[in-house]
Amino acid sequence: MVRQAAAENAADTDGTDLAEAIEAAAATEASADTAASTATAATTAAAEATRVSQVSRASQASDGTDLDPARVPALIRDSFALVTDGFDRVVSHFYALVFTEYPALRDMFPPMMDAQRDRLFQALVRIVGQAEHPDGLADYLRDLGREHRKFGVRPEHYDMVWRCLISALKHHAGSTWTAEMDAAWLAAYQLIAGTMMEAAEEHARHAPAWWSARVVGHERRTPDIAVLTLQPDAPYKFRPGQYLSLETQRWPRVWRHYSIANAPRADNTLTLHVRTVPAGWVSTALVNHTNVGDTVRLGPASGTMVCNTTSMRDVLCIAGGTGLAPVKAMVEDMAKWNTTRQVRLFYGARHDDELYDLADLERLAYRRRWLSVVPTVSHDPRYPGERGMLPDVVTRYGEFFDHWAGHDVYVSGSVPMVRATIARLQELNIPLASIRFDAYGGMDGLWQPGAGQGAPVPPSAPAAPGTATNERPDPPAPDSPSAWSAASHGAWRRDSGWRAEVAGQVRAPQTIDEWLLSQAS
Ligand SMILES: Cc1cc2nc3c(=O)[nH]c(=O)nc-3n(C[C@H](O)[C@H](O)[C@H](O)COP(=O)(O)OP(=O)(O)OC[C@H]3O[C@@H](n4cnc5c(N)ncnc54)[C@H](O)[C@@H]3O)c2cc1C
Ligand code: HEM
Repeated sequence: MVRQAAAENAADTDGTDLAEAIEAAAATEASADTAASTATAATTAAAEATRVSQVSRASQASDGTDLDPARVPALIRDSFALVTDGFDRVVSHFYALVFTEYPALRDMFPPMMDAQRDRLFQALVRIVGQAEHPDGLADYLRDLGREHRKFGVRPEHYDMVWRCLISALKHHAGSTWTAEMDAAWLAAYQLIAGTMMEAAEEHARHAPAWWSARVVGHERRTPDIAVLTLQPDAPYKFRPGQYLSLETQRWPRVWRHYSIANAPRADNTLTLHVRTVPAGWVSTALVNHTNVGDTVRLGPASGTMVCNTTSMRDVLCIAGGTGLAPVKAMVEDMAKWNTTRQVRLFYGARHDDELYDLADLERLAYRRRWLSVVPTVSHDPRYPGERGMLPDVVTRYGEFFDHWAGHDVYVSGSVPMVRATIARLQELNIPLASIRFDAYGGMDGLWQPGAGQGAPVPPSAPAAPGTATNERPDPPAPDSPSAWSAASHGAWRRDSGWRAEVAGQVRAPQTIDEWLLSQAS
């Protein structure tokens, strides 16, 4: 039954002729006249009802017995392997299809769609190729579904985008693509789009798609760093340690993530710490071209680097540069309820004048005896305090003053800093399950296995505190339940995962270094 449905879908989504026409159309996209676009849109709209119903029939059919859900990961992996050589062409083809088949969707995307910014496509291939941690993936997809509301994404758009994805893959795979691959991709669709849509629908019941926020404070702390205070126009819920996405008036539709640097306040204001990156669109707009009275748009808060409030363990925080922001939010929050847990905060910068929030931290530490702050400078041999790279300073303190094993650890900063720090913590036998982190940079917002969940370990589902190992688990047995079978039953299994190593750029990282490197690349 599923084979028949998949074959129907294959005929529909083959896109071989269409693809060529569309590639040509994409080349002249900018100069296409309005009449032609209207005609395309009309044809598309007429064809769409049929396609949508066929896609959903096929998705329902994948609930049937013909396709063993345990084979889905292998089928997806095989289908990627067919196109690995021409991956860039698949990406261009995918966007060409989306924008020419559905021109109205172009307005949702940023003006520049360069290779680094094809976040949607990269996320899709990563998710379907790496759903090794069903728990982490489900949370990520729910966040993503909520976040997509701000782009104006509606349920019907999912079928459109998915169809273009499969069309692009099939076009480049040619005759080697099989009907079973179709069925596997439809199972993936049910899981991914289903989770996102469900979360978006639930979120829409109690929260806006986005918030407008007025800038009520803009303080330039260094030539590169500004501390902004925002007043959202409606109650804004978040947990200390989370981040939000933000769009400036200067660059509509260009969204970036920033950590919220404060615990929730009665007046609903939010503080952000922003550092410019060279030629950065949003960071330079926020630091150099934003004034009190301007407005920005905010997406909902996301992220899992939040304080474990039920733990009794002492806390080690390691923050580099503006990586201080989420850590400060957690420490501010602890100031409301903590009395017993000792918190040691290492705060690093290259030069002491970049320790832009030290005075505030020291005031807080003066009032709360459980907090001690260790400012660290890496590039000034004359600095009178702690000198060196953060991992080295933390190690020294571990030897002489503290023993880090048994601490809850939070790490935040650039990808290289986070990578080096976590590697060192591992050498110090800190269990990965005790470490939560946020790494800024590279592929903002893209899901990685275990990202920031206290267990940045690719190999296995998050372990209980103190039990994580670096060993890779065995792949699931061929007949073990998978995320896909769980999806077809409408729920995520919490106890199973599956391994899908995909050739080339979508291969799952196997070590923490690979994992973090893949973020930086
Ligand atoms: C979860 C999360 C939380 C974040 N929180 C903060 C925060 O609190 N404060 C903050 O200042 N930033 C934070 N960032 C980084 C932020 O989202 C942007 O990546 C950063 O501001 C650059 O955006 P841009 O538009 O200015 O640069 P882009 O236009 O995106 O990039 C311009 C160039 O700089 C490179 N680049 C992009 N980001 C970085 C980076 N972080 N470091 C070095 N080079 C980069 C790009 O590869 C590109 O070549 C966070 C990122 C994540 C993923
Ligand atoms: C099918 C499942 C989908 C997945 C897994 C997915 C995933 C993603 C991811 C991870 C991002 C980057 C998010 C970020 O940086 O914060 C993204 C961005 C985006 N997505 Fe989706 N998406 C999906 C469907 C859709 C659909 C149906 C639309 C509607 C057209 C859409 C439109 C967008 C837009 C406009 C962006 C912003 C692009 C950018 O900033 O470069 N997505 N998507």
